[in-house]
Amino acid sequence: MDEKELLRTVPLFSELSDADITSLGRLASRRRYPKDTVVFFENEEGDFFFMIVEGRIKVTILGDDGREIILSMLGPGDFFGEMALLDNEPRSATAIAVEESELLSLHRTDFQGTIGDNPAISAALIKVLSTRLRRANHQISTLALLDVYGRVARVILDMAREEGRRLKDGRIAFRRATHQEIANRIGTTRETVTRMLKDLERQGLVKIEGRELVLQPGFEKAFD
Ligand code: CMP
Repeated sequence: MDEKELLRTVPLFSELSDADITSLGRLASRRRYPKDTVVFFENEEGDFFFMIVEGRIKVTILGDDGREIILSMLGPGDFFGEMALLDNEPRSATAIAVEESELLSLHRTDFQGTIGDNPAISAALIKVLSTRLRRANHQISTLALLDVYGRVARVILDMAREEGRRLKDGRIAFRRATHQEIANRIGTTRETVTRMLKDLERQGLVKIEGRELVLQPGFEKAFD
């Protein structure tokens, strides 16, 4: 696929005319990032906007003690790096490719020109930012209002709803994230997550089936 066809896969640009997509395609650069490569660090100056063609990008904040809190996992069709270009502040978080990824990037001038010329894109952008703010509010309430047991359960439910699939019997199955990843979403330790998961399993609320974790009936009701 060429840059133009790749841009068509980004929902943000779905409103663009063919001519606009073609000219934007000429301005975009394409690059592959091996697994575990940093795209940029928090607090750096940033001049590029990124779109994910393939792979997974972790948006994360690192504490001084090396602990991290995962803000979001983004996948194909998603974008990131817009904030530094919109408010002229440094990067608000670090972006890391957690799988080999292919990204398209646009320079600040071209990004600003595109949204300036296309109100439909600005509207689409604001919609995505609102959704992200809702998720962030949800994350704040999870962290501030629930005890650690509730946090583990809530983050599993969120991940299952975002990434999982509904089985015919209504249960949700999703990839078994590592205990470290779950811990890093809620600022706790891997050992705590392991302990809580065992407990949830003992209560019959989650079940491990092959490479997947399956939320059992009652889980959603208990932790929504
Ligand atoms: P920027 O600040 O340029 O660099 C870090 C990027 O991470 C930011 O732009 C957003 O694209 C993205 N980002 C920051 N916070 C969140 C969040 N809470 N949810 C999803 N993406 C985020």
